[in-house]
Amino acid sequence: MKDKFSREISYLRISITEKCNLCCTYCMGDDLPPEREGREEELTPEEIAEITEAAVSLGIRKVRITGGEPLARPDVVEICEKIHAIPGVEELTLTTNGILLKEYAKKLKNAGVSRLNISLDTLDAEKYRQITRRGSLRDVLDGIAAARNAELLPIKINVVLLADFNEDEIVSFVELTRKEPIEVRFIELMPIGAGIGRTEQYLPGETVLQKVPELTRQEDSGVACLYRLVDGAGRVGLIRPVSRHFCPACNRIRLTSDGHLRPCLHCSEEIDIRHLHGEALKEAIRQAILCKPMEHEDFSGGKVSGSRRGMNQIGG
Ligand code: 5AD
Ligand code: SF4
Repeated sequence: MKDKFSREISYLRISITEKCNLCCTYCMGDDLPPEREGREEELTPEEIAEITEAAVSLGIRKVRITGGEPLARPDVVEICEKIHAIPGVEELTLTTNGILLKEYAKKLKNAGVSRLNISLDTLDAEKYRQITRRGSLRDVLDGIAAARNAELLPIKINVVLLADFNEDEIVSFVELTRKEPIEVRFIELMPIGAGIGRTEQYLPGETVLQKVPELTRQEDSGVACLYRLVDGAGRVGLIRPVSRHFCPACNRIRLTSDGHLRPCLHCSEEIDIRHLHGEALKEAIRQAILCKPMEHEDFSGGKVSGSRRGMNQIGG
């Protein structure tokens, strides 16, 4: 269905857990969060499927599973199977940090996932340990290889641009697209959650074009502006939520792991839909679509996100 501004809302992003097996500084903040046990607040696979089915009846066609880290939830494969089995779901994708992919790639493919976005902010093992505070780069690289073997294609790598951290690796990331048909997507750091305290690390997407002037413009795809090296097998994407609003093209709503619909990533508005069923559930989703704002705050004047939740709680 269309929202108030005639945007067709066809994309549902579902965060299935707030938990993560990594602890990236710009996402989780400087203090290590306490290990939390118990998943009592998380929607069950049945509840997630029921909500997705209701959303599909209102025009959702594409579903992405996010987190936190979705593979940190033991029943992730069951959740994917249930969503894939819903008639009308045309595309099921997943965003992951890749740490557990070696074990999960084949299972996800068999469960109906068509492709993945893998978050990776550095190609240096020492820096990887530093920013994630827990992870091993080897695991992610093995995970990417497993995704390739499982034909979860094309592989897309999400790189959050960070001054004084990976600015010097932009060229190496772009180089990955020369021989392989992967898509490397550079994302601007948003002032949301722990990102608010790190605005000095923000780097505009434009930096990529300055560092690699031979990138040539391709057709845009969704929120990404796409480029290609002249002889490149893959593509380079720029996602610029800060320097270039993509709200006019917004086609999404989000579901949090504890059952709240979020009409917009950067607004505090949430609609609790847990325990709703049938017509009441559909009506609540309709209302969430209708209260999508035209656009979020302009961040350029130092303004920050209106969201009270961080990225790990909403889904990247
Ligand atoms: N700005 C941009 N991207 C972010 N992510 C987490 N926090 C931010 C932020 N402040 C991304 C991660 C991952 C996903 C969970 O969201 O890199 O791709
Ligand atoms: Fe890092 Fe993603 Fe986990 Fe946040 S959710 S800590 S960005 S891996």
